[in-house]
Amino acid sequence: MILKDALSSCQSRVNSFLSDYMKNLPEVSPVLREAMTYGVLLGGKRVRPFLVYTTAELLGGDLKVADAPAAAIECIHAYSLIHDDLPAMDNDELRRGHPTVHVKFGEAQAILAGDALQSQAYEILAHAEMPENLLKNQVKMLAVLSSGAGYQGMCGGQEIDLDSEGRLVSQEELEKLHRHKTGALIESAVHLGTLCVPDVPVSVRAALMEYSRAIGLAFQVWDDVLDIISDTETLGKPQGSDIAENKSTYPRLMGLENAKKYASDLADRAVAVLEAVPGDASLLKLFARYIVERDH
Ligand code: IPE
Ligand code: IPE
Ligand code: MG
Ligand code: MG
Ligand code: MG
Repeated sequence: MILKDALSSCQSRVNSFLSDYMKNLPEVSPVLREAMTYGVLLGGKRVRPFLVYTTAELLGGDLKVADAPAAAIECIHAYSLIHDDLPAMDNDELRRGHPTVHVKFGEAQAILAGDALQSQAYEILAHAEMPENLLKNQVKMLAVLSSGAGYQGMCGGQEIDLDSEGRLVSQEELEKLHRHKTGALIESAVHLGTLCVPDVPVSVRAALMEYSRAIGLAFQVWDDVLDIISDTETLGKPQGSDIAENKSTYPRLMGLENAKKYASDLADRAVAVLEAVPGDASLLKLFARYIVERDH
């Protein structure tokens, strides 16, 4: 299967899960539900769900088992974007080609929509009906997702990002920033995929995690590159936002061409480590290249 088809089938799958989930929520606050639905369902590439599904499938797992972790990690990601766009953070008014949640619904509602989507991620995972032999892994999934999302992961990275505005940081610091704010959730996605099967040999898991570390960093390096070389319409978010906010980015640290080369080298590394994984890892290999060639 070519990557484009695989990506779009993962998008449909997770979108249909999330859309059903949102529709079946009890009637508590129509406004909050609308803001959450807007933030989680309107667009997005669904790369983290893709990694959950594709890793699970590569290891012989059942896609039905992967639905809950795939949807859960997308809820965390959607929440992170809603909060990332807030005036107190990156102060952006366009996301996925539409007004950001705070522009459309108000700032307080955007904060709450993010909060509620974060809780919803754990609700989805904790309530998922898993086969008997995966019950232990279900608890591990909660552990992996919470670590990837919180202080040790995305939130920690977001604070380093804010703290690095307007300063010249070292490559070491920038790598730490990117590995936390973006890499951590990408790594969690692959890790969640491995937990969709009962036993994964240690060496296979290690290779997959090494792959996820490489693409996780590459993903944010390329996001930094796109902020410069793409345009607002293609991106669906404001081009030049990093420059406007004086962000620490790879192009700023090492120059645009070196940053592109760095991203590409990371993708090569990701492809190389997959040699240690038995089975057909071609989709993951194609995906590593896609990360550093995508236009949005
Ligand atoms: C954007 O993530 C924020 C980063 C972590 C770089 P994506 O590029 O995955 O955004 P969507 O979900 O496709 O909109
Ligand atoms: C965002 O990084 C990482 C998140 C945790 C959301 P960016 O601030 O660069 O993401 P975009 O460019 O706004 O999507
Ligand atoms: Mg940001
Ligand atoms: Mg941002
Ligand atoms: Mg960015």
